[in-house]
Amino acid sequence: MQDKRNAFVKFNERNEQLRQQYGEKYKERQHSKGKLTARERIEILFDEGSFQELDAFVRSKFNGNKSEAFGDGVICGHGMINGREIFAYAQDFNFMGGSLGSAHAEKIIKVQDMARKMGHPIIALIDSGGARIQEGIASLSGYGGIFLRNIKSSGIIPQISVILGPAAGGAVYSPALTDFIFMTRHTGHMFVTGPAIVKQVLNEDITFEDLGGADVHSSKSGVAQFVYDDEESTLLGVRKLLQYLPSNNIELPPDGDPEVLAPERPEKLKLVIPDEAVSPYDMFDIINNLVDQDSMFEVAENFAQNMITCFARINNQVIGIVANQPQVMAGVLDINSSEKAARFVRFCDAFNIPLLVLEDVPGFLPGREQEHGGLIRHGAKLLYAFGEASVPKITVITRKAYGGAYIVMNSKNMGGDFNFAWPSAEIAVMGPEGAVKILYKKELAASEDPEKLKKKLIQEYRETTANPYIADEYGFIDEVIDPSYTRQRLIDAFAILQNKYMDKLPRKHGNMPL
Ligand code: HXC
Repeated sequence: MQDKRNAFVKFNERNEQLRQQYGEKYKERQHSKGKLTARERIEILFDEGSFQELDAFVRSKFNGNKSEAFGDGVICGHGMINGREIFAYAQDFNFMGGSLGSAHAEKIIKVQDMARKMGHPIIALIDSGGARIQEGIASLSGYGGIFLRNIKSSGIIPQISVILGPAAGGAVYSPALTDFIFMTRHTGHMFVTGPAIVKQVLNEDITFEDLGGADVHSSKSGVAQFVYDDEESTLLGVRKLLQYLPSNNIELPPDGDPEVLAPERPEKLKLVIPDEAVSPYDMFDIINNLVDQDSMFEVAENFAQNMITCFARINNQVIGIVANQPQVMAGVLDINSSEKAARFVRFCDAFNIPLLVLEDVPGFLPGREQEHGGLIRHGAKLLYAFGEASVPKITVITRKAYGGAYIVMNSKNMGGDFNFAWPSAEIAVMGPEGAVKILYKKELAASEDPEKLKKKLIQEYRETTANPYIADEYGFIDEVIDPSYTRQRLIDAFAILQNKYMDKLPRKHGNMPL
């Protein structure tokens, strides 16, 4: 009886010690840096009271020196988000700068293995100075173990990283191996080598923000897909994203609200395309009039804005949308937009999310910068991604579909399941201007009024070549459809495609152009 009572005394003491470890002083230290604590973050992320911690009492025993503090700087466990099981770990900057020692790494590896085995998504809340310097090679090995799990879980369970403080050195590569990266402005920073090393090696002065802040990574490097002003909205953003994702690669994405609200003005679609073929318009006017009301959720909003990637629902079914944005650089395909779209297509294909392509693309961006930067290599990524994707794939050509870009954007020959075009579509090898210059070079040179002749020839080319009816007559598109009926056509087409099955020949894996 006495022994049993003692056992409970010890149990209560340990719990009290853990509670005190995360007391007021602890909170103040983190709040003074404008950040929430790891526990506060977990409370916002998970459904109320659902988080269950694992390994709370693990201590670092590096070199035989047992740490006083519990947890080794990371909180691991699982709970519910929107009523579904999710695993997570949250690094604790108050313990040795959230740095990764061996016990810390083993805790993360344990939840990574559990998440994969049980088929639930995993979320990493990062706030870390990278490899724990004192533990040397042991901490580097820890990173190796985490990276390996990221790779093994890729395409099996969704993996999401949230950068809420520094992510320095090794701390950046696990996020880079996950599916999506969220960052909070001003407090979240990612860099392989920090400003001090930049100064030492290159003698350049640069701030944390300019080197690896949320705006840099969401608009310039393309490393982060989602950026928010504060931690709470960042974590709520993660909850929102999860509403579009299945728990694993053998499930379907969750249904949304059963009360599907159709867009208010589908007839507006008839009016979106401007009379002038060269005038821009906003592709979001089309997207928002096709999908269920307020269901569009953009991915990588600030990066390569000439290409839109977003999730949405149509008749309550989650789809991924890849769309050219005529309003930015005329919707041209370049290095960044090709990579952005390719990665999104790969994610959707891995997680059973059907794809809708909305196409208005004048071609690939010409020039030295793009060619020397490897436009061929990066453009090929998008070709490969669409060609290999076996989920339902539908294309609607709204206006321009020229040359190689027409082929890339899920054309019929690349495996499009349904390829529709609006009457405003222009499908040809190249735009009227370029075609006329090449085809009528001699006539234009000999003409007394070359401008007038060019105008006439461009008009002829538009009427005879740059329209949807030639492609329609060859069967390269399945049908020219009325914009106002596009939503219903898509609902019907996605419904038929629910039974889509594709045979795959056995191979280890293809060699995609990386
Ligand atoms: C051990 C660390 C640490 C680390 C920070 N700390 N980083 N301890 N290992 N990597 C400790 C500090 O000593 C300090 O301890 C506490 O955390 C808070 O750090 P501060 O510097 O006071 O905080 P702040 O001013 O906010 O700066 C945060 C920081 C900075 C930007 C992260 O600490 C920093 O630059 N750290 C080093 C980052 C780095 O270069 N990491 C790369 C490691 S190599 P006290 O006791 O004073 O509170 C690597 C390679 C792995 O990761 C490769 C794998 C492929």
